[in-house]
Amino acid sequence: MKREQWGSRAGFILAAVGSAIGLGNIWRFPYMAYENGGGAFFIPYLFAMITAGIPFMILEFSMGQKHRGSAPATLAKINTKFEWLGWFQVGVAATIAVYYVAVIGWAISYFGMSFTQSWGSDTNAFFFGEYLQLGDNSPTNLGSIQWKIAASMLIAWGITYAAIAGGVKAGIERAAKIMMPVLFVMVLLLIARMIFLPGALDGVNYMFEPDFSKIWDVKVWAAAYGQIFFTLSIGFAIMLAYSSYLPEKSDITNNAFMTVLINCGFSILAGIMIFSVLGYMAQEQGKPLTEVVTAGVGLAFVTLPAAINLLPAPYILGPLFFFALVIAGLSSHISIMEAVTSAVIDKLKWRRNKAATIICGSGLIISMAFATNGGLLLLDLVDHFANNIGIVTSCLIEIVLMAWLLKIADVREYVNSISDFSIGTWFDVCLRFITPIILAIIVATKFQTLLTEGYGGYAQSELMLLGWGLMGLLAVVGVAINVTTKKEA
Ligand code: ALA
Repeated sequence: MKREQWGSRAGFILAAVGSAIGLGNIWRFPYMAYENGGGAFFIPYLFAMITAGIPFMILEFSMGQKHRGSAPATLAKINTKFEWLGWFQVGVAATIAVYYVAVIGWAISYFGMSFTQSWGSDTNAFFFGEYLQLGDNSPTNLGSIQWKIAASMLIAWGITYAAIAGGVKAGIERAAKIMMPVLFVMVLLLIARMIFLPGALDGVNYMFEPDFSKIWDVKVWAAAYGQIFFTLSIGFAIMLAYSSYLPEKSDITNNAFMTVLINCGFSILAGIMIFSVLGYMAQEQGKPLTEVVTAGVGLAFVTLPAAINLLPAPYILGPLFFFALVIAGLSSHISIMEAVTSAVIDKLKWRRNKAATIICGSGLIISMAFATNGGLLLLDLVDHFANNIGIVTSCLIEIVLMAWLLKIADVREYVNSISDFSIGTWFDVCLRFITPIILAIIVATKFQTLLTEGYGGYAQSELMLLGWGLMGLLAVVGVAINVTTKKEA
């Protein structure tokens, strides 16, 4: 069967940028920057972008394009012993997909409510109480499904399914070509309005003002690296799948640079937009900014609705914001699900329609766990492990395998032979030394902190089952598939 291909270079870049720009940029980046030293976060973030993000993106684009396979197929073509890592990455992507869609679901609900701001004045009580009905549930005591959340998630699944079943060119590329321009226009309109609000610049200053006491904190570096991999969709099967649909002799370097720079530029714009609103809100309420912000997942669903209540023309700016969040989330969700679907198509040789139906159908059912009363807590726990253990460890292993077991200079030569411009030996230095050393320190610290201090006050049994247990299971399944495949071969 001939492998599907992107219709045009612009189509590929829009799809790759659509994958990269997601909830990670609008929902996660601002609170990561806020929690990790404001302006001081930018130093590790930019360092991670240059030394890890760009070379890793070039590496994944070149491997996917050359070997023309999803993550497990590409890694297996490089060396049959590496296939398990591809399946582990697919497992991490599938895990992320099922909770990511819940956040898109919340955004869809909030989009609907934003026309009349029916979340009321106490947005905290509304989000955790009336909307999620969190109560005293926990990640292992989920309560019951909240049908209004489930219904919004169903809409998101419907769109993702339509794009994936439609195929690479007629489904995914077409969706990206519609969604990305709409997203850019909406965000530019929002920034153009927000930045002129009274107090907005104080908010923006706050985001860029460095807290240098945090710069030596390994946690800040871990957050920056984790954010770079998540936001660029690298290390968890996505960019390998997307680049496997590139035609032969496609440019690699220029496409990789564009994807990374557009994505990270967008994050900074989204940060400016959100902190402008927070600055305005702080001024309106006569409080310091730190007192108006709810850190973490609540930033977009607690603080922003409260800020929207205070905005001029909230019935326009509110829907614009939540619609942008939905679009950004959907274009990424499509890519996360494509990472899983392409792996199954490559392995089992299913027709795309059949694979999309079975995989999205199963995803929909599993994702209902996140539509329950305790869904937010389950999401928080699983997200923490998927990012801090799953993605970061998988990136470290992938880099070590590719940069140390393969001749990375050969990869560079291959890339240079087909790209618009050439890359130098800095590529080898970043992938062989700088990034693996920093990642190894981050991974060791993360394991140690999680094992000794736990996370978020969750019970040890919950961390063992839904954190370590889940990550371990994904690794075991990956190895089992690898072993059986080798036996059959
Ligand atoms: N790259 C996607 C995001 O940032 C997954 O949301």
